[in-house]
This record gives sequence, structure tokens and C-alpha cells, in this order.
Amino acid sequence: MTALRICLAASEMAPFAKTGGLGDVCGSLVTYLTKHGHDVRAFLPLYGRIDASALMPVGFVRDVPVELGGRTFTFSLRAGRHGGPGGPLVYFVDCPALFGGRDEIYSQQGDEHLRFAMLSRAALESCQRMGFAPDIVHAHDWHTALMPLYVRTLYSWDRLFARTRSVLTLHNLAYQGAFPFARAAETGLGPVAHMLHQDEARAGRFSFLTTGLLWADALTVVSPTHAREVQTPEHGFGLDALLRARGVVGILNGIDHDVWDPSRDAHLPARYSPNDLSGKAVCRAELLRETGLAPTPGGPVFGVVSRLTAQKGFELFQEALLPVLASRDVRIVCLGSGSREIAGMLGDMARAFPRKFAFREGYDERMAHRIEAGADAFLMPSLFEPCGLNQMYSLRYGTVPIVRKTGGLADTVRLYDRRTGDGTGIVFDHFTAQGLRWAAETAVRLFADRAVWRSIQLQGMAEDNGWDRRIGEYESLYRRLAAG
Ligand code: ADP
Ligand code: GLC
Repeated sequence: MTALRICLAASEMAPFAKTGGLGDVCGSLVTYLTKHGHDVRAFLPLYGRIDASALMPVGFVRDVPVELGGRTFTFSLRAGRHGGPGGPLVYFVDCPALFGGRDEIYSQQGDEHLRFAMLSRAALESCQRMGFAPDIVHAHDWHTALMPLYVRTLYSWDRLFARTRSVLTLHNLAYQGAFPFARAAETGLGPVAHMLHQDEARAGRFSFLTTGLLWADALTVVSPTHAREVQTPEHGFGLDALLRARGVVGILNGIDHDVWDPSRDAHLPARYSPNDLSGKAVCRAELLRETGLAPTPGGPVFGVVSRLTAQKGFELFQEALLPVLASRDVRIVCLGSGSREIAGMLGDMARAFPRKFAFREGYDERMAHRIEAGADAFLMPSLFEPCGLNQMYSLRYGTVPIVRKTGGLADTVRLYDRRTGDGTGIVFDHFTAQGLRWAAETAVRLFADRAVWRSIQLQGMAEDNGWDRRIGEYESLYRRLAAG
């Protein structure tokens, strides 16, 4: 099979920049596509928080001017290895005026549209200077969703892109990158304003995501169930008609077995495997100790690692879980950052049950791994979930996922069935406090039967959600497009 040339640009790429699953997935795509022999050029902003000292300047991409909003910004390119020496190269767009000097990845300042228009433009400008003719431009979420239209318009004069096809992966339709229509011209799309979504334009709006939905050659979401969901008015975030018209395929995310593996995970106080789970007991005891919770030999420890947003189902927590905390011997360890309001609510729960409920506010990679390993069960009562990665990490860590039947959660967790003995987790249907409470109580009951619990753990650990199995679906899609 011939190798493909792929240009991938995204706002997050683990381990360099990550706030959620987008970072994990884009980091993994670079690793696994490269591993499968493809020539991948991956672009990420050089955010202020990224340590630039180990990055090499790319001599032939220096002080490149890009006109945005009547101003000329310049960028230079730096390169670093993903995963250390020998890993694939990642290119960093060094534009201090837009990315440096601020700590956060997403900013509240008025130039967010310019920042991500710059990322897309810089990726294409760099391809030109590298003489790299991509077979595929792969954009992710709203941040790089202008790339498909850029390739068809601003850059169409360049024969380098004559055979380029574009893919837009929608990780989360809740974020659309919508701005007042006047901003469209500032991204360089003024001369082709007729190619923007005309209903939105009439309403005075311009959205990065809709532009990508109109002009990408192929659209994907990150699970088959979510692909069906987003084409319905209830779950389409206002884009269902367009998605039905254009068509969208679901390609399930995978997980990186090198980063998430309990037998090799350096973040853990002890390591373990399906053959010997004794290390998991050490992780559990250590998790309770470090979060100040009381030991519990008899009841389960529930873990939560999440962005604090409405998507993740926190509104069900108090009504569903306070009664369980009051009446059962359970522990809950929760790590998250985001909404002040949700953090406040979780803080209240911790104050109400100081020896049973721990809340750590913040973003902490090490703690995320220690919760995955130390918890008995993992809670993901999401309102919607395009795919979700933590339930797959949980399966691999022998931590029984408790999920709502939506999106990728429905595709990756099988409800345990007492009659057949089959199943990898606990799945509830309705987004209600009763549903979550039922699921938590079911976990308490199943946990009490050690043999049953062990069999659920081992069935989960035997699942293979690795990227090696999934990457082929992206390859086939790329090849179909490149041949067309
Ligand atoms: P989403 O992308 O919607 O946030 P996913 O389940 O796909 O949900 O991915 C979340 C990723 O972000 C996981 O790798 C998870 O461990 C990580 N994560 C989320 N919140 C935190 C946090 N507070 N600290 C450390 N890691 C976090
Ligand atoms: C989004 C979704 C999540 C998905 C991740 C990576 O942030 O919320 O479900 O796993 O992207 O695709």
C-alpha cells in the first residue's frame, strides 16, 4: 500500500496541549498514522505554556506573513518529537501575538477567530514551503474547520493542493466557533463570502464549524451511535439537517495502549495486569489515603475524572448520589476543572461527607491515572458523549465503567447480564437522577459478590480498544477520498 501524505491541524495534541479527549485523539492519530507508514505533518499552536526550549526552529519557515483582519501577523515554525526521541515530528506555529504570552489554550480575548484562522493558514503556508502536497487535510473541531474552504479558495491557485481532499472530524458539536458575521472577512474569507452558510449570514452570524460542514469532502464523528444521534433534531445541536444532507460517518476513537497501561504506568504506586490484580488493591488503598477518605473493605470506590461542564451529567449528582453516600459504604473520588458552579456543588458534597467524598479541583494528569487505577468503578453519567475515552481507560484498568447509554459510551460498554454472565459495565438509559442512582446501587450490589465483580473486571480488561485496531478506518476513508 502506498503511503499517504496527511496534513493534520488541531488546537490540542497530547502531551503538548490538552484539556480533554481532543488532545488524546489528535496525539494518537499522529503517532499511529506515522506508525502505519504515512507521512504526517501535524500542526499545533505554540501556546505560552508549551516549553519551547527543546523545539528546533525550522529554518525555511521563518517570519511568514499572514494577513488577517487588515493586520499582518507573522509566524515561524518550530519542530518537536512526539513521544520523545524517535517519535514523529510535530510542528508548532510560533506566533507570539496570537498564541504566546497567555497561559491558556482557549482564550476569552476578542481575537479567538484570528488565533485559529492563523493555525489553519499557517499549516497550509507551511505545506507550501515544505513542498508537501497533502493527499488529505484533516481538520478537527471548529478550530481548524476553515481549512477545507481555504484549500478550495485562497490556496486553490497552488497546484500543490490540486489533489488534496479534506476530512473534518467533529469531536464535540457543542462548540461551533460562532462569531458575528463581520469577523468572516478578518479570516480572509471576505472575497468568498458567498460560499459561507447563507442562512447564518442573513442572521448576522459566521461559524467556523458550519463552514467546515459545508466544504469538507468527508465528515466524521467519533462513534457510530453519535453519528446516528447528530442527524436527529434532538441531538444535532441545530446542525442535524446539514449533517443529514452531507452525510457523516462514525469512527470510534481508540486509546493509546502505551500511555494507558496498568502494567507499565509510571504514575501508579503499584502496577498490575489481568493475571495478577494485587497491585490494584495497593492503588486503591493509596488513593483513599492520599485523598483523606476512610478505608472501606466492603463497598466500592467510585472515580470521576472530567471537565466540569453540563455535558458530563453533574446536575444528577446530588439527587442521585447523596442518598447513596448516606446509606451505603461507598467512596467517591472526583477530579475536575471547569465550571465554578459545578465545582462549588462538588465542594458542598465533599463538606457533607468529608470521609466519603473527595473533590480535587484542577487538571492533574498523574491524579487522573491514579484514579483510573485506584477506583473500583468509574462514573460517566453523560448527557451526551460523542465518544468518551475514560470509560475505555477504565475497562483497561479493571475499573468497571458506569455509563449512560449515549454516543460512544453505548458503543464501548456492555451492560452486565446476570443470566449470561456477559458484560463489561453498568449502563443506564434515561438521563435522570433515578437512572444514576439505580446504576450506583447496582454497582454496590454487584461489588458485594467478589466473583461476579472479578468477572466483570476481567471481561473489561480483555476488550481491545487500542488505536492499532481503529486506525484502519481512517486509512480506508483517506484512501477512498484520495482515489476519488
Ligand atoms: P472530553 O473530551 O469530553 O473531555 P473524554 O472522555 O473524551 O472527554 O476525554 C477526557 C480526557 O481528558 C481524558 O484523557 C481524561 O483523563 C482527561 N481529563 C479530563 N479532566 C481532567 C482533569 N481534571 N485532570 C486530568 N485529566 C483530565
Ligand atoms: C470530545 C467529546 C468526547 C470525545 C473527545 C475526543 O471532547 O466530548 O466524547 O471522546 O472529544 O474525540
